[in-house]
Amino acid sequence: MSVVAHGIRTLGVLGSGQMGLGIAYVSALRAKVPVLLHDRSSVQIQKGLELMDKLLEKDVAKGKIKAEEAKEARDRITVVPPVQGLSGLRDADMVIEAVSESLPLKQAIFSRLAAELPSDTILASNTSSISITKIAASTIPEGQSSASKEGLQSPARVVGLHFFNPVPVMKLVELIAAIQTSQETMDRAKAFAIACGKEVTSSQDVPGFVSNALLMPFINEAIMCLEKGVATRDDIDKTLKLGMNHPMGPLQLADFIGLDTCLAIQQTLYNGTGDSKYRPSVLLERMVDAQWLGKKSGKGFYDYS
Ligand code: CAA
Repeated sequence: MSVVAHGIRTLGVLGSGQMGLGIAYVSALRAKVPVLLHDRSSVQIQKGLELMDKLLEKDVAKGKIKAEEAKEARDRITVVPPVQGLSGLRDADMVIEAVSESLPLKQAIFSRLAAELPSDTILASNTSSISITKIAASTIPEGQSSASKEGLQSPARVVGLHFFNPVPVMKLVELIAAIQTSQETMDRAKAFAIACGKEVTSSQDVPGFVSNALLMPFINEAIMCLEKGVATRDDIDKTLKLGMNHPMGPLQLADFIGLDTCLAIQQTLYNGTGDSKYRPSVLLERMVDAQWLGKKSGKGFYDYS
């Protein structure tokens, strides 16, 4: 089997939340590439860097990596401050976007990335459910035909590269091609994920891809069981942990992913398929309305304060 070179000499990561930071971490430590880390919030960047330092220290303390490797990885991370904007990522050969699950937000970002970065930069999205085809279409400049040469050039370099949380631990990356994605983009993105130490599966560009088309109805059913009083929170989670050997119960997992993210994915599945089996539970909607977003906000199905 021939090995495709990913050719990524510098990576851009857009968003320094739990996913973006994890992607920066495996890219700097495992793939050993320089990373330009950008977020529109300097507070979020600071939080991300603190988490990065903690993760590296933990790995050194456990003897998983040498102190020197940790230092080299940390030195590969360069912050692109908010004031520099997306153009600060122009030296990257690939940018992986990891911002919130919102189609309008991602469309706005990809349209600007396509306008501000060189035309051969690979543009990857870490979306967990949103159509890569729609994101790719947003790279065509307004008023330009999708059939024109320049118009095709941009969407062809857009790809879905879906990491799992916690990124340093989870072994999988899901690879998703938009109908516009070129084979070269797919091959290079896949080779990069492998260089990060991940196994790669491919999914068609359907709402939720394979992972969340299966996971989210499961989480939603667990929330509905709680809502209907079928069992307590602890018994629902215990059933799946001890009865099925899941590392976490579905309610704890929902908190861990983020309830706002779970709701956004479920809405994408429901709106994208029209199938009532994907309708988000009322309890999940209420909790997100209350800003009970799970572990990151200190309260979800469990308390983290
Ligand atoms: N970052 C980095 N490393 C972490 C971590 C984090 N946030 N959390 C745990 N770890 C590491 C620990 O350091 C430990 O490493 P060692 O084996 O080297 O000691 C290892 O993971 C196991 O951790 P713990 O012993 O503390 O706890 P655990 O055995 O309960 O494992 C877990 C924690 C790995 C998170 C495990 O509970 C698990 O696998 N949970 C399910 C996670 C899951 O399903 N993730 C996918 C969510 S879906 C998604 O991300 C995508 C989407 O589209 C929504």
